[in-house]
Amino acid sequence: MKDEVAGLIVVDDGGSNTVVVTRNEIEVFPSVKGVYGDRTLTKVTSKYDFIVEYKGEKYVLGTLSKFDCEYPLQIFSKSKQHDFFDLSVLTSIHQYGYASNYLVVSVPVKMHTEEEKQGRIRRLRGSHTLTVNGVTKTFLVADVKVSAESATAYFVDKPSGMTRFLDIGSRTVNFSTSLCIDGNCRMIDTGSGTFFDKGLEALGEGFNAKALADYICGQLLAKWNSNDVVYLLGGGALNEELVSHIKFYFPNLQVMDDPITASARGMFNLGVIGYGMD
Ligand SMILES: Nc1ncnc2c1ncn2[C@@H]1O[C@H](COP(=O)(O)OP(=O)(O)OP(=O)(O)O)[C@@H](O)[C@H]1O
Ligand SMILES: [Mg+2]
Repeated sequence: MKDEVAGLIVVDDGGSNTVVVTRNEIEVFPSVKGVYGDRTLTKVTSKYDFIVEYKGEKYVLGTLSKFDCEYPLQIFSKSKQHDFFDLSVLTSIHQYGYASNYLVVSVPVKMHTEEEKQGRIRRLRGSHTLTVNGVTKTFLVADVKVSAESATAYFVDKPSGMTRFLDIGSRTVNFSTSLCIDGNCRMIDTGSGTFFDKGLEALGEGFNAKALADYICGQLLAKWNSNDVVYLLGGGALNEELVSHIKFYFPNLQVMDDPITASARGMFNLGVIGYGMD
């Protein structure tokens, strides 16, 4: 926990990667979790190995769970109102946050509803005590803002005119449209949305880069034009085969810098504006 008493912390708590952004750092660790059980050999040996004790349960998280776990758990539900996502957020705050935290988390565009937002806020706001790698901390989540995946990528560079964003993640594919004219910027709901169950890992054995590109782009062409500038982010932007197939439909496709952290970096800029702080 940092010396500063209060600060802004962003956690883009994905199904595959948890991306944390604060004023001074960007951290990425695997979201996968598992039960600690009756382990006798487990040791913390790397930066993102986490043994977490929370509400009487003991878990392995991060790289520990990725490499050494009998029942590695990833959650592909539409809602993020689940211990799986709470644990990603609270572990992030324990490791990189403050005594008092102004938090921004993410949900899919189509889950950016009052019910989902209030549900996440109810679960996360307030005082929490958890132990990570033997260190117990109590911290406050003073406030929570719930942002829409993909839409937050606009806040990385705030492009003018009409811009499309496509975030291909492990659980979901989100897309969004921003429109900025003479400094007046808005998100265009009718050009935004979520494809559930079409994330890179949600598809499992069924993953096929061309078929996924055909599916996503076929749907998007009902809303977007093929000559639109489309910014691609999320882990899908690192899959060259997928990118080339998407480019076939949207030749003006641009892969964002460091696409796995792009959403979280946008969330941080949004948080600075929303909370009036950095
Ligand atoms: N170097 C790489 N090359 C190809 N694919 C990659 C690479 N790195 C990550 N991926 C893919 O990206 C996926 C993770 O993407 P991302 O971090 O955007 O997901 P997420 O944000 O955790 O998921 P979601 O937003 O759907 O909850 C992995 O499932 C993997 O398939
Ligand atoms: Mg994501």
